[in-house]
Amino acid sequence: MEMANEFPDATITGIDMSAVFPTTIIPDNCQFIQHNILKPLPFPDNTFDFVYQRLLILGLTPAEWVQVVKELERVAKPGGWIELVEADGQGGNNGPYSAKIWRWLEQALWTLGVNIRITQDPGLVTILKEANIVNIHQDVVKLPTGDHGGKVGKLLQENEQSFWSAIAPMVIHGANVDKEDYDEAVRMAEIEVEEYKSYHIFYVATGQKRECPSPSVE
Ligand SMILES: C[S@@+](CC[C@H](N)C(=O)[O-])C[C@H]1O[C@@H](n2cnc3c(N)ncnc32)[C@H](O)[C@@H]1O
Repeated sequence: MEMANEFPDATITGIDMSAVFPTTIIPDNCQFIQHNILKPLPFPDNTFDFVYQRLLILGLTPAEWVQVVKELERVAKPGGWIELVEADGQGGNNGPYSAKIWRWLEQALWTLGVNIRITQDPGLVTILKEANIVNIHQDVVKLPTGDHGGKVGKLLQENEQSFWSAIAPMVIHGANVDKEDYDEAVRMAEIEVEEYKSYHIFYVATGQKRECPSPSVE
């Protein structure tokens, strides 16, 4: 919706498998489609100038990553841009409680075939190359978590806390963790980010679909 407002001449399509979309005040140039991206995307080849995917790190196995990004490549126009934005699934300067939660999460996801470290440098670059994308560039952004990161840091900390609460059942079950231990770790992790000056790492990887090969001259 932000993109649709910022670029009124563009037509924006958003996809998620859950019905998480806003239902009111949707800009006219914006539509949402409920769709599982493990199935072929409901668009012809060469449809979009720009294809953007963010924060699927918990949802895709290594084989699915390549399958999905190849599908993003298919629906991009020749010369069109693809951008992937992902967390690194570990963070930096973790205190002992945050480190414990990341370890449990990694363990739980492993039982589902998901490798939470897949995005770590050069993870996204490798996946884009496998999908035949060219002109690849990756930025690594470190965002401080908590008050020491100002307003954005505070928001990131709130986001981290609600993320850890939301995934609690999956982690407790998958890593066989005691619920009280998990809840205590989440509580303590909120406090320790200031002491350890913790941060999150995000990768922003962009690249282009190859231009069509020029017609051969007889
Ligand atoms: C961490 S959220 C990120 C949401 C949004 N992309 C963003 O960056 O704000 C992950 C989202 O991926 C969606 N998701 C997970 N697996 C999916 C799949 N196979 N197809 C479509 N959406 C999926 C989930 O429903 C969830 O809304």
